[in-house]
Amino acid sequence: MNHVAIATNDLAKATALYRDTLGGRVSAPVAQPEHGVTTVFVELPGAKIELLSPLGEASPIANFLRRNPEGGVHHLCFEVTDILAARDRLTAGGARVLGEIKTGAHGKPVLFLHPKDFGGVLIELEQT
Ligand code: CO
Repeated sequence: MNHVAIATNDLAKATALYRDTLGGRVSAPVAQPEHGVTTVFVELPGAKIELLSPLGEASPIANFLRRNPEGGVHHLCFEVTDILAARDRLTAGGARVLGEIKTGAHGKPVLFLHPKDFGGVLIELEQT
């Protein structure tokens, strides 16, 4: 697993929670206009967390935050060695890819899989 992403309407509050309550190392907020989010990277022993808050009008996390105004777990990201091979294998098995392969928050290719194909969990795949 690469990271767990948590959506929040209050990035400063969420950042303080992970820093002060759990002792996480937190980054400065990073605006990612091409993804419609602002991200704070949190490092904890054995865990990477990404805090996401909406950026711009058409943020892909806006609907999630309307349904979950207190925030919550948004997606899990798993690493794959070959994202095209992973996409082809998963779609051949009936999984739905959301949108196109993009460059993710770490500068590597990522794609998202429909939560209805993964037990209600939005899955991100990131090429290592
Ligand atoms: Co992610």
